[in-house]
Parts: sequence; structure tokens; C-alpha cells
Amino acid sequence: MSLITWSEEQFGTKVSAHDQEHQAIFAALNDLHSSAEGGDRAQTGQNLDKLLGIVKEHFASEEQNLAKIGYDGLDAHKAEHDNLLNTCSDLHAKFSAGEAEITAETTGFLKEWLTKHIPTVDRSYSEPMNTAGIN
Ligand SMILES: [Fe+2]
Ligand SMILES: [Fe+2]
Repeated sequence: MSLITWSEEQFGTKVSAHDQEHQAIFAALNDLHSSAEGGDRAQTGQNLDKLLGIVKEHFASEEQNLAKIGYDGLDAHKAEHDNLLNTCSDLHAKFSAGEAEITAETTGFLKEWLTKHIPTVDRSYSEPMNTAGIN
């Protein structure tokens, strides 16, 4: 069973590029969860690299659009992104060094973060982006 499922109702931002990026993140997180549950460390490492890569690209893409529209909350929004990236880069370093594993707690933490951030912090940009012609 999937760890996290995207729906317009729960996660839609009214900006199609970011909705698509969120869906790709969810798919990568579900893959990471499956390989971790299955105990395949090599696959889990690949899935972790993939997830972190697309999360980084997504954060940059959102921040670029927020900067483009002169969004007031850009710094606060970016601070949330940077905070998660710092946590993830620690985790990645520990995993690579064999000092930590990806567990249900890890993927659960990422799910929680997304489930909180997207409907609140991300959704706050729906209206200003739409007004600026980004749909
Ligand atoms: Fe986002
Ligand atoms: Fe965001």
C-alpha cells in the first residue's frame, strides 16, 4: 500500500507545475518506503538519491516562481525548505556512511512534513501566483 496519495482536495495548489512536482515527490517517497520496508539497501540508496534530487529541484522551482511574483513570504517559505534539506542531507550522509537506515519512522517523518507544508505554506501562494498568471 502506498504511504502517501496525492489528491486535488488535500494537496492541490492551483498551480499545475507544482502539483505535478508534488505528485512526482509522492511517487518517489512511496518507492523509498517500499524498498526500505523490503530491506533492499542498495535500491533504498538509489531511491533516496532520486527523492532528494527531485525535492531539491521542486523547492528551487517554487522559490523561483515566488521570487518572480515578488512574494512577501518568500524568505519564510524558503526557510522551511532549507530546514528540510538540512535534515535530509544529514540523513543522507549517515545512510551513506552506514550509520543510519531508512525506516518507517523516516518515511513517516517525510510524509508528515509534506502533509503539513503543502496544504498550508504552499497553498498560500495559490492566489498570488494565479493572479500573476501562473496557473
Ligand atoms: Fe511544494
Ligand atoms: Fe514549498
